[in-house]
Amino acid sequence: MTDSRLSPSRDDESTNTSGNTSFDAVLHARLSRRQLLGSALGAAALTLAGAGLPNAFAAPAVPGAAAPGRRAARLGFAPVAKSLEDAVVLPDGYRYSVLFRLGDPLAASIGEYLNNGEDDPASFALRAGDHHDGMHYFGLGANGRHHRDESRRGLLCMNHEAITPEYLHARGQTVADGVRTDAGEVLREFYAHGVAIVETIEAGGKWRYERDSRFNRRIHTLTDMALAGPATKTRYMVTKYAPDGSRTRGTVNNCASGHTPWGTYLTCEENWASYFRRIAAVDDPRRSAKELAAFARYGVRGNGRERWATVTPDTPDDLYGRWNAMKLGASDDGNDDYRNATNTYGWVVEIDPFAPASTPKKRTALGRFAHEGAWLGPVQSGAPLVWYMGCDSRDEYLYKYVSNLPWNPVDADGGLAAGDKYLDDGRLYVARFDADGSGKWIELRFGVGNVTRANAPYPFADQADVVVHAQLAADAAGATKMDRPEWAAVNPKNGEVYVSLTKANASSRPLAELDAANPRFYNDRKTTGQDRQGNPNGHVVRFAEAGGDAGATSFTWDVFLFGARASADARAVNISGLTDANDFSSPDGLWFSPATGVLWIGTDDRAYTDVTNCMLLAAVPGSVGDGGPRTIVSSDGVSSRAVNTYVGAQLGEENLRRFLVGPKECEITGLAETPDGRALFINIQHPGEATRPAYATARFGSHWPDGGRARPRSATIVITREDGGEIGI
Ligand code: FEO
Ligand code: CA
Ligand code: CA
Ligand code: CA
Repeated sequence: MTDSRLSPSRDDESTNTSGNTSFDAVLHARLSRRQLLGSALGAAALTLAGAGLPNAFAAPAVPGAAAPGRRAARLGFAPVAKSLEDAVVLPDGYRYSVLFRLGDPLAASIGEYLNNGEDDPASFALRAGDHHDGMHYFGLGANGRHHRDESRRGLLCMNHEAITPEYLHARGQTVADGVRTDAGEVLREFYAHGVAIVETIEAGGKWRYERDSRFNRRIHTLTDMALAGPATKTRYMVTKYAPDGSRTRGTVNNCASGHTPWGTYLTCEENWASYFRRIAAVDDPRRSAKELAAFARYGVRGNGRERWATVTPDTPDDLYGRWNAMKLGASDDGNDDYRNATNTYGWVVEIDPFAPASTPKKRTALGRFAHEGAWLGPVQSGAPLVWYMGCDSRDEYLYKYVSNLPWNPVDADGGLAAGDKYLDDGRLYVARFDADGSGKWIELRFGVGNVTRANAPYPFADQADVVVHAQLAADAAGATKMDRPEWAAVNPKNGEVYVSLTKANASSRPLAELDAANPRFYNDRKTTGQDRQGNPNGHVVRFAEAGGDAGATSFTWDVFLFGARASADARAVNISGLTDANDFSSPDGLWFSPATGVLWIGTDDRAYTDVTNCMLLAAVPGSVGDGGPRTIVSSDGVSSRAVNTYVGAQLGEENLRRFLVGPKECEITGLAETPDGRALFINIQHPGEATRPAYATARFGSHWPDGGRARPRSATIVITREDGGEIGI
């Protein structure tokens, strides 16, 4: 659920004014309206390129992972019903326990969380943060090092994306005349964002976290970070905090995540732009045309969503002023203010959970955008390493990073030094989805294609400029605008990549701008409240890299799954044939279990919430091209439009089932599993976020997980089977 208190919510807002359109405009130019609206779309041009897919794909060899090539032959649970209860609902034979909630202490010296808004702000430096999101489980060996097969003791690394101040403070944020007047509340918020690393242990069939583990750590908006890769020590990164451009302070809006083959965690900065204060009427006249083009593209303007920069007086180290991105100083390069501070956010950040004193590194070679997450492709000795990355905003793109250095398993315990090898030196690509079911990866390299000094509206100066302004480079490269790319997941069976496209509304994807990969426009008929037009239920695309090579520059794709109400029109909306056992809306989390091969799909929904809370589904997918070409006829009530696309085979209840429904007003976010597949960790984000609290009566939108009249808390749960078996199969 997008935070409803934000007005407007930045990730619901398009800043992509590029002329990039999809192939469909081309298709329209070629085909007459009559042809498009004709029934049988048998055009030879639409033969599915995926029909010639390579079948020689080498199964990925992830060190220590379960045997590659395993797959879930069948789902082994009865689907749960949709639910509006304030509870976690699971299939028969499964149970869960609450592991790690907002405010839970990470050191013996920190007291239990009061959960009434009165906890000491400073104590949050060692408490669980808010809005649990992306997550990864790293097995922890007896020697304190990464042990890939360890399923009883591990380090759980997780993101704390954002906050719900109504529950964090006594009565929400204290604001007077637009200014934050309670510095303690702001300090609490600084700490409540970021990342937690927490040791988790199973004993006697019960999971708990170790309260005083030496590995427990919080990383937040005050943590010192190194900048690495092409943009470090360049003029784009100069701040008063680090005049040489080598460092920055903090990480924020850490959405989904990723990991490396050498046992480090990747946390991804998503809606960072909205945290900075930049009053355009004051700052714009002080800025160059290039800077203004960059601010417009990245949406850097306004008061800052939490108004952190408004606190006075400031501290000697600019605790609050560092969120003011306006040009205030007299220097030429910005060494006396934070005019460039926004360039130090929007990155994939590498953290070594096994080295609690290590400094996180922002890996600039992976580009700067609204990073959802970074998902590792198949790992093979002698082949480059690849990460797939979505930019989660309306009309944004799908990227991938390919290391220049081929993977050498001697680096499997290399820590951040291995990151220096593989994550600072590589190629950044953006995806174009073509009409014929194929696609291209276009490299974002200075001097290549339109990414040059001659580009308009943004002339590039060098490769550092390209990675700092990757969204502008992707515009220049002609990437395909997608319906808000969230997670990606790589099938351990065959290396195919699945990408959730959570939703689009009528303004970001009107009928006229449908394309093959974003092909659906309809009216989502609610049982209560207002209907929503556009693609409010979202879809999942998938692709197979050419030759089974993750580093390839072309691919074939189809639409794996369309979100829909089971009751919706089967021809135009419920194209995947969903039933009451598996209908859903707005896919976000997407994760393949290496142990079982099950694809888990979590939802972040505001459309189907008249009928059900957000949920988790389990799928057993086939492969790209197992369906076929399809024409979808959409209507906005005024005109209609036929779009040709490719749709995967329907899964049916056999291969797609609802596994879990969460409590009220939550989102199902992070997913992680023990290597043996017998414990599944799920993050439940912001239960009760949509209902404004009635403090006097303790009437909140949810009371999960503590129950009674308690304030709701984001939390990690751990799901196990009563018979101790693998989850989902
Ligand atoms: Fe933070 Fe894209 O969800
Ligand atoms: Ca959310
Ligand atoms: Ca997400
Ligand atoms: Ca989302």
